[in-house]
Amino acid sequence: MALLIRNGEIVNTGSRLQADIFVENETITRIGKDLEAPANTEIVDAAGQMVFPGFIDPHVHIYLPFMATFAKDTHETASIAALIGGTTTYIEMCCPNRNDDALDGYQLWKSKADGKSACDYAFHMSVTKFVKETESQLQQIVADGTASFKIFLAYKNFFGVDDGEMYQTLELAKRLGVIVTAHCENAELVARLQQKLLAEGKTGPEWHEPSRPESVEAEGTGRFATFLENTGATGYVVHLSCEKALQAALGAKSRGVKISIESVLPHFLLDKTYAERPGVEGMKHVMSPPLRAKHNQAALWNALGAGSIDTVGTDHCPFDTEQKLLGKDSFVNIPNGIPGIEDRVNLLYTHGVKRGRLDLHRFVDAASTRAAKLFGLFPRKGTIAVGSDADLVVYDTAYRGAASAKSQHTNNDYNGFEGMEIEGRPSLVTVRGKIQVRDGKFVGERGRGKLLKREPSHF
Ligand code: URP
Ligand code: ZN
Ligand code: ZN
Repeated sequence: MALLIRNGEIVNTGSRLQADIFVENETITRIGKDLEAPANTEIVDAAGQMVFPGFIDPHVHIYLPFMATFAKDTHETASIAALIGGTTTYIEMCCPNRNDDALDGYQLWKSKADGKSACDYAFHMSVTKFVKETESQLQQIVADGTASFKIFLAYKNFFGVDDGEMYQTLELAKRLGVIVTAHCENAELVARLQQKLLAEGKTGPEWHEPSRPESVEAEGTGRFATFLENTGATGYVVHLSCEKALQAALGAKSRGVKISIESVLPHFLLDKTYAERPGVEGMKHVMSPPLRAKHNQAALWNALGAGSIDTVGTDHCPFDTEQKLLGKDSFVNIPNGIPGIEDRVNLLYTHGVKRGRLDLHRFVDAASTRAAKLFGLFPRKGTIAVGSDADLVVYDTAYRGAASAKSQHTNNDYNGFEGMEIEGRPSLVTVRGKIQVRDGKFVGERGRGKLLKREPSHF
């Protein structure tokens, strides 16, 4: 059935107009005033509401064996949570570890999502070692439409690569035209500092941040940038958390290194005092890079507003209270991660746009358009335009609520942003023209989501 969304205020990264949107066969076919509605068209009145392009979360973990356990969501739960929060596409980190075969891992991650996700999705393929079959395996994965890689400079002996492997990955990525996303922390320093702190009897979650200080992230960020500079590859720093790392990335950008920057919701809104809360309350706020001293948030908001932080993701990675307690005797065993897929758009709109930190168009850019452009999805995704997929978010700016575990759909028993105000939420969300969410409720088709094939574009 065709769909006509009438009279909304259409907000793209570069434009704003009040008009109707007509959708047929999954695609936006007309935008204009007073469009005719053929018989058998569903009509949605969006007067007084904004209409955004479907939001894209460029960094999520759904299936993730990590730190002696598994992240809690499935594609069913994560995609419904994503959609209720206005995210219509996510890019999951495919993360086989160093002992796994890369191709087997890729197939496994695909099988976990196949037919299960209610929204569209893609993968960043993690390169967690570089052995003789790696090059041909990665070529096959890129040919299959997964045109972005992930490397971890952290997590020694598990996901982490050494400098030689980073070099080989970047050199191959340059040849294949693939962007490489990177978790930038110095693995050796983290391991040494963890041991030192534990030897001093410092075992609680409040010691997680001191074991991975800002300088350790800045070093990783700077080193990644230096390797990009010397291979000519294109890179993307994930979940950047602090001003020191930001300076390292921006310094590289200003000397022409092809580097983009993502920060994630927790680093804008939460600070290290959350992880210093006693016991499991602190553990719930352990992620890497860690939550930082509060002064860093102003630097991140400013850089986001200016567009030098390119994207805002979540690093959605849900572990419940019981799993967090795996680290009750030692902070090094606390599963790292904070969920956020459901709250990203509403919290960014509220604490960014509504609080005057973020221009409305930059909000759309950072939460949708820029990721689509960097990761080979534009203009299919990331914009409201004739010919684009009809992923649309009709946004009710009059809604008032709060982030809470009580109302969330992600599979977890806590919400890291518990109680934070939300001023606005999607009243309607479509995925390729099909209404999936109405007023906070999933009303759509489970398993509708497609794996998005992407072409390399970073030569
Ligand atoms: O703490 C985090 N970030 N957990 C997920 C794994 C990663 O490093 O992205
Ligand atoms: Zn990471
Ligand atoms: Zn991550």
